[in-house]
Formats: sequence, structure tokens, C-alpha cells
Amino acid sequence: MFTKRIACIGAGYVGGPTMAVIAMKCPRYKVNVVDVNADRIQAWQTDDLPIYEPGLLDVVKSARGRNLFFSTDISAAIRESEIIFVSVNTPTKTFGEGAGKAADLQYWEKVSREILHEADGPKIVVEKSTLPVKTAQTMEDILNANGKKYRFEVVSNPEFLAEGTAIRDLLEPDRVLIGSRETPGGLQARQEIVDIYANWVPPDRILTSNIWSSELSKLVANAFLAQRISSINSISALCEKTDASIQEVARAVGMDTRVGNRFLNASVGFGGSCFKKDILNLVYICESYGLQTVARYWESVLEMNEYQEARFVKSMIREMFNTIVGKRIALFGFAFKADTSDTRESPSIYVTRMLHEERAEIAITDPKALDNARIDLADIAENVEFDESPYEAASGAHAVAIMTEWNLYRSLDWKEIYKAMEKPAFVFDGRNILDHGALFEIGFNVYPLGRPPLKHF
Ligand code: NAD
Ligand code: UGA
Repeated sequence: MFTKRIACIGAGYVGGPTMAVIAMKCPRYKVNVVDVNADRIQAWQTDDLPIYEPGLLDVVKSARGRNLFFSTDISAAIRESEIIFVSVNTPTKTFGEGAGKAADLQYWEKVSREILHEADGPKIVVEKSTLPVKTAQTMEDILNANGKKYRFEVVSNPEFLAEGTAIRDLLEPDRVLIGSRETPGGLQARQEIVDIYANWVPPDRILTSNIWSSELSKLVANAFLAQRISSINSISALCEKTDASIQEVARAVGMDTRVGNRFLNASVGFGGSCFKKDILNLVYICESYGLQTVARYWESVLEMNEYQEARFVKSMIREMFNTIVGKRIALFGFAFKADTSDTRESPSIYVTRMLHEERAEIAITDPKALDNARIDLADIAENVEFDESPYEAASGAHAVAIMTEWNLYRSLDWKEIYKAMEKPAFVFDGRNILDHGALFEIGFNVYPLGRPPLKHF
């Protein structure tokens, strides 16, 4: 009855949504999503999904039980499927050679060996995780050193979805990239993967390449995106010194169609599980090929991000009369961006820790990410308050800092918030989403990013 059987090992932010969309769009394919994490798999089987992503539940429900299945039986999924996507995590290595920079490939290698062990026929293994360039070589070496009669083809199909817009990104991708060996077997495997996406992605958006270009393009795409944010953030610091407005500068620069106007929002810093780790990985690869100047160039993108986070906190301390000891500060938003519950590498984590070092009292509010915030801050939890309501978080606070660009913060009753705060009351808008003039009129001292502050003294 099914025309293709696909497995995906790793049911996280990438594996879950990607496979749900494939299953929805290709009802004649059987899609098995498997993971070692039984709790995660269990949650995928309910309406309380393990990750928050707008529109995801509807997509999952459209296919779950029909041709989309979630399970912990990895062996069975491997045996049953001709195509195996692998989207396990590839964090930064924390130990040994390359610690702090290189990608930790232990989960990937473990999965390769599991595939090798369980497979009873040829398989196409698809790199969905983000991996260092040349990883496919290692995987091929492991998979094909098998003494078995059949071959494993490794194909690279990196994922470009962004959290919060994952479903839209998957349904209407700018491009899908599929890289393979240019051997007859490699090209045939590449076509199998092209055929999956061709069910809904227009042909001119399905890009094919050699396997190394595909692996490298993913790292470079993230590095370029992060570089844009660091570039605009660096200029936000200069704007604050020169009375220029970062939004006006970004608009003027971005209207040049060669530059483009997206991804030019100055912020307290970029977060997310991938930008930092992928740039570190790129830096490590450059260093290992002796390209020190190239490595330093990309490293500076991360330095600028750390500078921006630290700059935000320093400005809070300076403006609040050079001490925040014992002062309550409300952080609005803990997720690394809006419309996600994900807090990995969120600038809020760093800002909270810096404020805590300064002995401030911290109240955190977020509509989706409080559970993750509690985990991230477990070691200082006794000094941090977690509030569902932004009004509660702000009550008695000296300052509110906007950390995540959640829409709901735009429409709060800021007059009520002002009334309940200590005076003078400060707002530090780390995302430039509020109406600064209106807040100033209410009585707040307002500190946008990359624009002159509006203060009453
Ligand atoms: P994640 O941590 O949410 O999910 C990874 C899953 O793999 C986990 O559920 C884990 O239990 C599972 N896993 C680990 N080892 C396993 C094993 N041996 N067998 C079975 N399951 C195993 O990670 P993620 O955010 O989905 O990222 C996965 C990969 O995709 C990473 O390489 C990341 O760089 C890349 N990526 C992520 C995003 C994103 O938005 N999060 C976007 C594009 C690419
Ligand atoms: C990013 C990329 O956009 C995806 O293409 C990629 O697939 C993914 O990383 C990945 O490999 O994991 P994501 O991290 O989910 O996606 O979210 P982004 O929208 O890229 O935002 C990243 C960070 O940059 C957030 O903290 C966001 O607030 C910040 N940002 C973004 C800015 O500060 N300014 C901007 O103009 C845009």
C-alpha cells in the first residue's frame, strides 16, 4: 500500500516537524519517527506536543496514525525503511580535542553503527542534522566497512527551517538542498530524495549539488545570517553614541536590493541552538585547514554577539545609578525568539546570569518558555521568580527589560505596569518593539537599542 518507507532517527525540533510535513504531503509514504527519548515520543502521540511551533499540531494530526508514526523502536524502523533521515543533535564538543568548538559527532556515529547493525538491505542515509563538511566521508566509511553485500548511500539534505516559522518554512521553502556523491549510486539516491520534496516543492526550488557543497552550505548559511545580526548590532552601539537611529539606518541600508531588508533587526543578541555552535564548528574547520585569518573573521561574529549582550546589561547598571543590588528587574521574554518555547542559547540566559552576579532580584515572565527557563536557571532558581503574568513580574520592579519580541508585550496596559513599579521606572527595550514615545509620556525612562534614550532627568 505504501510506495516508500521513510524513517527519521531523532524526533526533535527538526525531525518532528520535517517528517510531519512529509507525511502530510505524501500520504502514500509511510513515515516512522523514532527517538531514544521515550517521553518525547510519548508526547508526539498526544495533542500536547513536545515542542511549541505554530501550526504544527494540525499538520501532525492530519497524518498521525495514517502514515505518520512515532516510536522508540529504532531497530524496526531501520529494517523497515529504504530511506533513513538522521536528525539527532550535533552539539559543540565539551571535552578533549576541539572542546568548545568542534561538533560532537558521537550521536551521529552511534546512529550510523545502529543502522549498520540492523540493516538487512541497502539503505539511503540522509544527513538532516547540521554536520561539519566531510562528515559524509566518515559515515560512508563506517557504513560500508560492513562485510555485507549491499551499499549504503549517504546523502546530505540540510534543514533551513527557523523555529517559530517551521511549518511555513517547510511548506514553502526558499530552497531545498540535496547533495550527493556524483557516482551512479549517489545520483540515484539523490533522485530518491528529490522525488520526496517534488510532491510539494516547485522544481526550481530543489537544488542539487555535490555532497561537500551541501554540507558546507548549511554552515555558511547560518554564519551569514548571524553575521548580519552582528553587523547591525555593532552599528546599534555606534548609533547610541551619535544620535543616529538604528531603525532608520537599517531601513536605508536594507532598501538596497543587493543588501535586502530582512534580518536587520538590532537586538540584545542572537540566540538559538545553532548559530553559535555552527559558527564555532566553521571556525574549527578553518583552523584545522590552517586558515587562521578566515577562522578569526567568523569568530568575530560571536565576539560581537557577546559584546552586545554584555553591553545591554552594562547600560542597565549605568543608567540605574550604577548599582542594581537588591533592585527587582523584570525580564519580559525568555525564549530565544518569539513563537517558540525553545530557550537554547537564549540571550536571556546570559543577561539573567549577569544581573544575578550584580545581585539584582530577577522576575522572569514568558508565555511559552517558563518551564525551560526553570531548567536553564536551576542553579540560581532560589534567587529568581518565574511569573506567568507580565504584570506580576513588573510589580514592584525598578526596570522592565524586553528580551523576546513576543507580540503580546506591545499591547500590554503599560499605564498599569507603570503604576505598579518603583519610581523612577525604566524600560530597556532589547528588541525595539515598544512604542517608546508613548512609554515616555506615561512616565518611563526608555532605553531603546541603537537610539537615543528618552529620559525624564
Ligand atoms: P533536538 O535536540 O531537538 O533533537 C534531537 C533528538 O535526537 C533528541 O530528541 C534526541 O533524543 C535524539 N537522539 C540523540 N541520539 C539519538 C540516538 N542515538 N538514537 C535516537 N535518537 C537520538 O535537536 P534539533 O534542534 O532537532 O536539531 C537536530 C539537528 O538539526 C542538529 O544538527 C541541528 O544543528 C540541526 N538543525 C536544527 C534546527 C532548529 O531549528 N532547531 C534547524 C536546522 C537544523
Ligand atoms: C536559524 C536560521 O534562520 C535557520 O535558517 C536555520 O535552519 C536554523 O537557525 C538552524 O540551523 O538551527 P532559528 O535559530 O530558529 O533559525 O531562528 P532565527 O529566526 O534565525 O533567529 C535566530 C536568532 O537571531 C534569534 O535569537 C533572533 O531573535 C535573532 N535575530 C534574528 C535578531 O536578533 N535580529 C534579526 O533581525 C533576526
